[in-house]
Amino acid sequence: MQVKAAVLRDPAGAYAIETVELAAPAADEVLVRIVGAGMCHTDVLPRTGFIAPPPVITGHEGAGVVEGVGGDVVGVQVGDHVVLSFDSCGQCRNCLANQPAYCDTFMARNLFGFNLDGTSPVSDADGKPIAARWFGQSSFATHCLATARNVVVVDKSLPLEQLGPLGCGIQTGAGSILCAMDVQAGTSLVVFGAGAVGLAAVMAGRVAGATTIIAVDLQPHRRDLSLELGATHALDGADTDIVAKIIEITGGGAQYAFDTTGIPAVIKNGLQSMRMTGVMGLVGVQQGDLVLDSSSTIGKTLINILEGSAKPQDFIPRMIQLWQDGRFPFDRLIETYPMSQINEAEQSSLAGGTIKPVLIPGS
Ligand SMILES: NC(=O)c1ccc[n+]([C@@H]2O[C@H](COP(=O)([O-])OP(=O)(O)OC[C@H]3O[C@@H](n4cnc5c(N)ncnc54)[C@H](O)[C@@H]3O)[C@@H](O)[C@H]2O)c1
Ligand SMILES: [Zn+2]
Ligand SMILES: [Zn+2]
Repeated sequence: MQVKAAVLRDPAGAYAIETVELAAPAADEVLVRIVGAGMCHTDVLPRTGFIAPPPVITGHEGAGVVEGVGGDVVGVQVGDHVVLSFDSCGQCRNCLANQPAYCDTFMARNLFGFNLDGTSPVSDADGKPIAARWFGQSSFATHCLATARNVVVVDKSLPLEQLGPLGCGIQTGAGSILCAMDVQAGTSLVVFGAGAVGLAAVMAGRVAGATTIIAVDLQPHRRDLSLELGATHALDGADTDIVAKIIEITGGGAQYAFDTTGIPAVIKNGLQSMRMTGVMGLVGVQQGDLVLDSSSTIGKTLINILEGSAKPQDFIPRMIQLWQDGRFPFDRLIETYPMSQINEAEQSSLAGGTIKPVLIPGS
């Protein structure tokens, strides 16, 4: 079928909306009409040429309505409302241990942009293939394919357009706190970077019952928002005294630290800000080598986390329940754009403006 998609052809260029040919769902796939797709910072990675080089259709926070199902699909039906998340095999040791974010085939299924056999379900007007299995979806499009494993069926009464970001960025921030780091009540947490992932972590820190939550960012408006969402303190990331300030606020060092910036100097500050027995989680795409010394790491645990260590089938419904209870207002991070304004949305997000753009195809 012919669908419209935002195609990135030049790593340094703009996305263009193109009419492309999308294959029918294979036996284990579902066809989804996208109603909203969040933009995550990871969507810019194909611009580096390192993974899924253009031409590619990105987008990995889709939400939509199922319009077709392959013959082997169980548990998903035409008409279901679904949130799309990362893909996994369901059969390897980590998948069987309820850790699909660490699936043996995570990289191949989510970051390369093609099916495991190297084919793609999408071709352009000249019949040439375009990478279109980004995170098992490529949802910057009116329609995309997914598998039964990477869709989560949600109640039809929910605001579907807003739910896509639960599939990656929000899940990563909240899952890191509640699943990977298992933050305990009555403790202290410092979050570096108050973007979509960091602010989800702040909200989850409050859900976990952390009593001191420090958000660190360069942008004053993001620091202000963090205070509204549950941070007890907000610090300027440009402050050269930041480690001393965190140690003072926490009375000797934070119990947990979480980095979303990927900047080695910030990660080192995080490690130095923690007391011994502290646990630090990393999710930001690392920007350069991280050199660790024993004085800042001794007695501490460092975890490099994928997708919050969450299992989408369990964790997305949990986040929705928390949102319904008024304890997890992730919708406050969202600003919607027509898909035709994808370039403006990307620019605003990279410049620190919009925290979580959600693209609306067909508008
Ligand atoms: N590991 C995973 O599974 C996973 C999943 C989703 C996103 N990510 C990654 O997480 C990172 C964060 O994503 P996001 O969507 O929240 O991005 P974002 O750009 O919205 O947030 C990053 C924030 O860091 C702040 N920042 C930059 N330099 C800083 C400094 N020196 N001190 C303090 N704050 C600083 C920025 O102002 C910004 O608010 C990205 O690298 C993204 O690729 C990883
Ligand atoms: Zn697996
Ligand atoms: Zn993402």
